[in-house]
Amino acid sequence: MNFFDEVAGTWHKTSRCDEAKVASLLAILQLKPGETVLDVGTGTGVMLPFIRERVGAHVPIVAVDSSEKMLREALVCCDDADVHFVKADVERERLAGRFDAILLYSVFPHFRYPVGTIFKLVTDNLHSDGRLLIAHAQGRQHLNAVHRRLSNRVFSRPLLPVVEQVEEFVRVGLAVQSFGESDESYYILVRRGGCCAGRSSQ
Ligand SMILES: C[S@@+](CC[C@H](N)C(=O)[O-])C[C@H]1O[C@@H](n2cnc3c(N)ncnc32)[C@H](O)[C@@H]1O
Repeated sequence: MNFFDEVAGTWHKTSRCDEAKVASLLAILQLKPGETVLDVGTGTGVMLPFIRERVGAHVPIVAVDSSEKMLREALVCCDDADVHFVKADVERERLAGRFDAILLYSVFPHFRYPVGTIFKLVTDNLHSDGRLLIAHAQGRQHLNAVHRRLSNRVFSRPLLPVVEQVEEFVRVGLAVQSFGESDESYYILVRRGGCCAGRSSQ
């Protein structure tokens, strides 16, 4: 069975969500009221209330995940008629629709084709001037150690130092607006049609 299907029932209990960290990561995306959001790798939907709080009521949010069981848990927890759940593997499938913002929270290391997948999401699914945020509320070394321990159960690639990952993105023509990593977090903000990478010490 797919690892995330296996753990879906207990994900809420086992994965801690630090609201202050999430808030500071989401601040980088600068969501505004009325903006549409695609939440990639939504899992049980932990980010949905945070997104809703920022974009306001009744604004459509699309939450996508490749795990049937994660989505089932998300449906049980989410009492929001304007969240649309989609089962899809974003690496293999093309998603419909364009959004003001795309969030990838705690999912990027599980991509087999990280650069191609981000390129596809940016070109196919962002409005011109939209933003895509890769975000983690833990540091790279901690995450890589966790993923090493789980390597016989779930596919993951080690996160690269953020500067190296940004270089890979820039090489294919992606516009990285800002990036940063610390012992506590990791993020890269990509803008469609933007320019200029600036590093943060966050
Ligand atoms: C570590 S969990 C994080 C879930 C959620 N974002 C959270 O923070 O609780 C990663 C999620 O990404 C999903 N996922 C992994 N690869 C995916 C892909 N290629 N397409 C869609 N979802 C994917 C998994 O099924 C899983 O639910």
